[in-house]
Amino acid sequence: MKRKGLWLSAGLTLLILLTTALLLYENRGKGDNRKTSMRIGVLLYRGDDTFISTLRAALEEQVKQYEKEYSVKVALDIRDAKGNQNTQNSQAERLISLGCDALCVNMVDRAAASVVIDKAVAAGIPVVFFNREPVEEDLNRWDRLYYVGVDPRESAALQGQILVDAYKEKPETLDLNGDGLVSYVLLEGETSHQDSLIRTQWSIQTLKDGNVPLEKITGGIANWERSQASALMEQWIKEYPGQIELVICNNDDMALGAIDALERNGLLTAGIRVVGIDGTPAGRAAFRAGSLFGTVEADTEIYAKAIFDIVSDLVLRKETEYEKYFWTPQRAVSDREERLSDTP
Ligand code: GAL
Repeated sequence: MKRKGLWLSAGLTLLILLTTALLLYENRGKGDNRKTSMRIGVLLYRGDDTFISTLRAALEEQVKQYEKEYSVKVALDIRDAKGNQNTQNSQAERLISLGCDALCVNMVDRAAASVVIDKAVAAGIPVVFFNREPVEEDLNRWDRLYYVGVDPRESAALQGQILVDAYKEKPETLDLNGDGLVSYVLLEGETSHQDSLIRTQWSIQTLKDGNVPLEKITGGIANWERSQASALMEQWIKEYPGQIELVICNNDDMALGAIDALERNGLLTAGIRVVGIDGTPAGRAAFRAGSLFGTVEADTEIYAKAIFDIVSDLVLRKETEYEKYFWTPQRAVSDREERLSDTP
C-alpha cells in the first residue's frame, strides 16, 4: 500500500514536470512566462482622422489575433487628444499612472515629443511613436523609443509615377485641352506634418523627372480634411473655370473632398484627374467607382503588426528584433484591371 502511494506520487511529480517542460517549450521565444497580461496605452492625435481610424481598427485586430494565439490578455486603452497637445500630455500621464506597460503614441505636435518621452523614461516604459514622426534628437534620447510610419518620399514617388505612366501612355489623359501643359492644383496636409512637405515636393519632382510638362494653377492647405478640401476646390472651380486638369492631393480624404466639389459642380465626367495617398477604404471605393484616378496604399495590417510586435516584445521580452525605425510597405493603386477586381 505504502509502495503504491510512493509510485503514485512519483508518477504525479513526473507528470507535473513533463507538463511544465511542455508549456515552457511551447512558450519558447515568447519571453517572460510570468506575464499573462499587459496593458498598452494608445494615444491618437485625432480619433476622427480617417487614416488613423483605419489604423486603429487594424491594431485592435492584431491584438485580438495575438490574444488568441498566445493566451496573453491585452488591454488596449485608447485615448483621443482631439488635436490638443496639452490634452495628450495629460492622457500620457494618466495612462502611465494607471499602470500601462507601454505607450503607442501618435503625437499631436511632433516637435513636442520630449514631454511624453520624459514621462515614459521616468516610469521606465517603452514608447512606439507612429504616423507623426518625432524629431531625431528626441527619438535618440533612449533605446526604448521606436517609430513606425510610412516613408513619405516613397508615397510621393509612387503617386507621381501613376501620373507619369498615364501621361506617357496617352498625354491627353492629363492634358485635357491639348495645350502641351498639365495644369494642376494641389491640396496639402497640415503644414507641421513631415508628410505634407515631403509628399508635395517629391510628387512634383517625380512628374518633372518623368518629363510631364506642368503648370501649377494654385494650391492650398486643407489639413488632411475632406470638408476643407471640398471648400477649397469649390472656390478654385469658380476662380479658374475650365482650367483645372489635375488635382494632386497629399491624402485620400482631401481627394474625396475635391471629388465632392467636382460632383456638386457637375464636373465628375469632365475628365479631371484626382490622385490621393493612403488607400483608405473610402479612397479605394472611389477608385473602384472611377472618380479617384489613383492612390498609394499603405499596408495597414503590416503597419499595425509592427507597432504591436514592438510593444509586446519590449513588454514581454524586454527586447525586440525590430530596428528603431520601421517603414511600412506601400503600393500604387492605379491599374484599370485592378479597379474592376479590387475588393473592399
Ligand atoms: C498621414 C495620412 C493622413 C493623415 C495624417 C495624420 O500620413 O496620409 O491621411 O492621417 O497622416 O497624421
